[in-house]
Amino acid sequence: MIEHRTNPDDCAFDAAGGAPEPISCATEPNGLVDRLGPLLVHYLFSAGRTVQIHDLTNRAAQTALSNLLETLRELGETEGRVAVTVATDLLSINDVRVVVDTQSMGPVLYLIDEMKKRKVEEIDFAPEVAAEELGSFLKLFFSEPSEEDVFGELARKLSDAGVVNIRLAERIERLKYLRDAKVNKQEVREESNRVMSRAIMFMGEVMRAIAQRRPVQLPKASRITQQIADIIRTDETILVGLASIKDYDEYTFSHSVNVSVLSMLIADRMGLHKSDTAQVGIAALFHDVGKTHVPQAILNKPDSLTPEEWQLMERHPMLGVIELSRARSLRAMADALFVSLQHHLLYNGKGYPAKPAPWELHPFNHMITVADVYDAMTTPRVYRKQTLTPDSALRLIARKGGEMFDPLVVKAFIGAMGVYPVGTVVKLDTGEHAVVTRQNEHCRLMHRPVVVLLRDDGASGEQIDLAERAGDGPKYRRTIVESVHDKRYEAQKANCFIVK
Ligand SMILES: [Fe+2]
Ligand SMILES: [Fe+2]
Repeated sequence: MIEHRTNPDDCAFDAAGGAPEPISCATEPNGLVDRLGPLLVHYLFSAGRTVQIHDLTNRAAQTALSNLLETLRELGETEGRVAVTVATDLLSINDVRVVVDTQSMGPVLYLIDEMKKRKVEEIDFAPEVAAEELGSFLKLFFSEPSEEDVFGELARKLSDAGVVNIRLAERIERLKYLRDAKVNKQEVREESNRVMSRAIMFMGEVMRAIAQRRPVQLPKASRITQQIADIIRTDETILVGLASIKDYDEYTFSHSVNVSVLSMLIADRMGLHKSDTAQVGIAALFHDVGKTHVPQAILNKPDSLTPEEWQLMERHPMLGVIELSRARSLRAMADALFVSLQHHLLYNGKGYPAKPAPWELHPFNHMITVADVYDAMTTPRVYRKQTLTPDSALRLIARKGGEMFDPLVVKAFIGAMGVYPVGTVVKLDTGEHAVVTRQNEHCRLMHRPVVVLLRDDGASGEQIDLAERAGDGPKYRRTIVESVHDKRYEAQKANCFIVK
């Protein structure tokens, strides 16, 4: 039996329909950003040029700095953070594209060029930024970029200078190699790590935006999920491994990212177009945003919830809809709105909030529900007696196919994850423990994946293909006896997927 939550948090049984459309970065008008955006770009341009020539104490530099700071503050008063983004050669401020006219063309092109040179996709100014910090940032940002690791070096210099209220996001090129026949495994590994940490950071921003009653950044979510979709079409192994590492402190962030990766994997296996797969990922990223309004004491309560606490918990799908409807482009947010509302509704229509009979569930919802339940069941939580190993969670979901979950979705999910999903810790018939690091390519050998041995001294062990036979005989060298849930191996397991 699937355990029914006594607590709100994970979406034990979460479950959503509408024609998906590619996300457009074009946004609806926003008067303040429309008015102040070009001015901000102009001041960034003049400040950038000035600090390249003069010291920060110079009067021209001081004027440029104070004009820039004043504009940031004016925007920040209403908008909170101010994010300057370059995507596909267009400059946006808080997701509002800066309109280029003859006056603004020079500064806009200059800024795009300077950001691209430093592999920066976004400059995010927190409202707390002060004049001195802004000055240090400008001096370092506009200094001549280095030849190698331009972004990494800049980020390090900013950190050393104590710049904490201005954050940079790295521009990740849509990697051509991901579509090449010969894939460089290390590059995919690094790309997977980059996009996962970026997605988790993004979820932090989303939660902060909601707390400050600001709209969430849809175009940024779109860029992240398109990158994930690129990786999934190449080799999702590392992504699935990273999703199996449970972050207990940042549960809500990592849970949303894990659900996004896993539901996109299902969407891909079900044959959805890449842009639709990315849409599934966006809806999954936002499925639990309504929980921002549920107190942590309820989300993490070890005991059963009182009826009043349940009532509050059961409002999180609708609270999510209210938050997401603040988005600048509602049309682009439509799928996510449905999924937020319906993600606790199951294939059989049970769940909450109660579904009026004529309603159909959104097709994305079926995929996101399975991913949601899987991630919840495999993550230790204070209120759940038992955390399932990945293979047990899969078996349980398989048993409920056609009842709680869409059977086609279940089939696609199991096909993608295998018998022992990547990241499962297993005990072998030799008494050794190991972590699954890759599925066997042959369907009939799904129960014989590639593993890395876990050593008691913590050192990384040998990689073993469990399909290897002992000599010429029919016997296999090693066979999985059972999967285990053992916290001792968590760090070693993480080392198999995390790039240091
Ligand atoms: Fe969830
Ligand atoms: Fe939920």
